[in-house]
Formats: sequence, structure tokens, C-alpha cells
Amino acid sequence: MAGQTNHALRGDYTNIRPDYTVDQDYRRYTAAEQDLWKRLYARQSVLVPQFACDEFIDVLNSLDFGLGIPHFDAINAKLFPATRWTLVAVPGLLPDDVFFTHLANRQFPVSVWLRKPEEFEYIVEPDIFHDFFGHVPLLFDPTFADYLEAYGEGGVKAKGLNALDYLARLYWYTVEFGLINTPKGLRAYGAGILSSAGELPYCIQSAKPNRIRFDLLRVMQSNYKIDTFQESYFVVENFRELFDATSPDFTPYYQELHRRPNLAAATVLDTDQLIKG
Ligand code: PHE
Ligand code: FE
Repeated sequence: MAGQTNHALRGDYTNIRPDYTVDQDYRRYTAAEQDLWKRLYARQSVLVPQFACDEFIDVLNSLDFGLGIPHFDAINAKLFPATRWTLVAVPGLLPDDVFFTHLANRQFPVSVWLRKPEEFEYIVEPDIFHDFFGHVPLLFDPTFADYLEAYGEGGVKAKGLNALDYLARLYWYTVEFGLINTPKGLRAYGAGILSSAGELPYCIQSAKPNRIRFDLLRVMQSNYKIDTFQESYFVVENFRELFDATSPDFTPYYQELHRRPNLAAATVLDTDQLIKG
């Protein structure tokens, strides 16, 4: 994911290509890192059957990347035939325009480095575990995959319209922290939730956060916090809804949003439709 941080980025950007990609250089991973990956995967995968959406569960099972850090090439051999997406290795967070251009070209940037053992519970910057475990399974879903490409194109356009903050919120509340209403109840599809052992049960079971029916402009008005569990989640019925709601030209939406106030993350409006967890 793209994002702003106040501190120096962690990745090694010395050998990047012009599009910020690098080689995965699989030999870099130590035995200790392989072991940490297995532990992260093992803990997270037991939560998935109860809290993740079916689209995610099915792919996770079929990809079977719990035994070691995945080789991007091996995943691409399955991913490209499925949805024509490709994983590309990157050092870490990317400038917005670089990130959007990758998405618009159906290339998903995955950070090559893995967190440290002391970051087992929590990490702010996206590492390979977040990027891979959280994001890659849904790239196999045709509708979600199309949404992400359209998002990339929308990002390039939003930059010229001074609307990047609005679009970043849409990414945050869908791709990173989205919930979906299913016959089995609410489930997570956002990568920030799916890669977090604490927030995955929390977002479904806790009485604390708001769960608000997805409304495009409402979402784009809403600030978010990057260092706590979310105070509000937005719920879609299916990925088609997400794709359809975001297909119109956003130019008039951005004009309207510039007239509306930004909302704190915990805000509930009279017009919000709240959904029971
Ligand atoms: N339709 C949006 C626009 O015209 C682009 C977009 C698509 C944005 C999907 C986000 C998600 O700007
Ligand atoms: Fe992410």
C-alpha cells in the first residue's frame, strides 16, 4: 500500500529500477526469517475460517504458502493466468504516483523484507507478510482484481484534481479495512485486518467499533487512524457493489467533497446505516 510516514522508510532503495521494483533475491531470507514467517502464517491461518470472506479462504487454501516465504515467481505462475495480475518486488512504501501506476497496470507491489520477531504482534509499515498474506489472495478474485486496477487509474487522475486524500480514504476503508456482509455473517476482506491477529477477531466480534453500510462519499469524507484498531468499518454487500459504486467519473464527487466537512474516524451520522456485528 502507499502511505505517508514521518520516519525514514525501512526498505533498501539503493538498487531500485525506475519503476521502484527490485529483484526479490530469495537467498536474502535467513532461516530465522523463514521460521518467523511460518509462525505468522500458522497463527493467522487458524483465524481465517471464522473471520475472512470465502473468496479469501478458498485461495489461501489452494496457494498453500505457509511453509516458507513465498517465491513471487511461483505465485505469478498461478496469478497471471487467473486474473492477469503480476506481483512485483519493491523495497517498501512507494510514492503515490508510482504505486497508482503499478495498480493501473495490474502489477501489485509486494515489499521484500520481513518484520523483526519483536514486531510479531504489530507493525506500522507494510512488510512482506502484510502485503502477501493480506493482499495477494483477493487478487485472484476477478471483480476485486478489476476494482484494484480501476483504483490505480483513479489515483493517477485524482492527483491532478487535488483529491488524493479522498482516494486514500477509499483505499483504507475498502482494500485495507473493508468488511463484507455474507450469508455466514460479517467477514473481513481488507488486508490490514486479514494480516492482523488482533484486529481480525476484533472487527467482527467487538461491540466497540461502528460498522456502517458502505457509502462512497461518506467513506471519502472519513479520516482514519493508522496506529490503533479502527473505530469505524464500512460494509459492502459484495465486490460488484464496490466496483459499480466507483465506476462513475469522480470529478463531480470531488467537487462535492471539497464542500463537505471531513469526519473524525469515530463519527456516526443520522444518515448512517449501522450494521450489527
Ligand atoms: N471512477 C473513478 C474516477 O473517475 C476512478 C476510481 C475507480 C476510483 C475505482 C476508485 C476506485 O476517478
Ligand atoms: Fe496494505
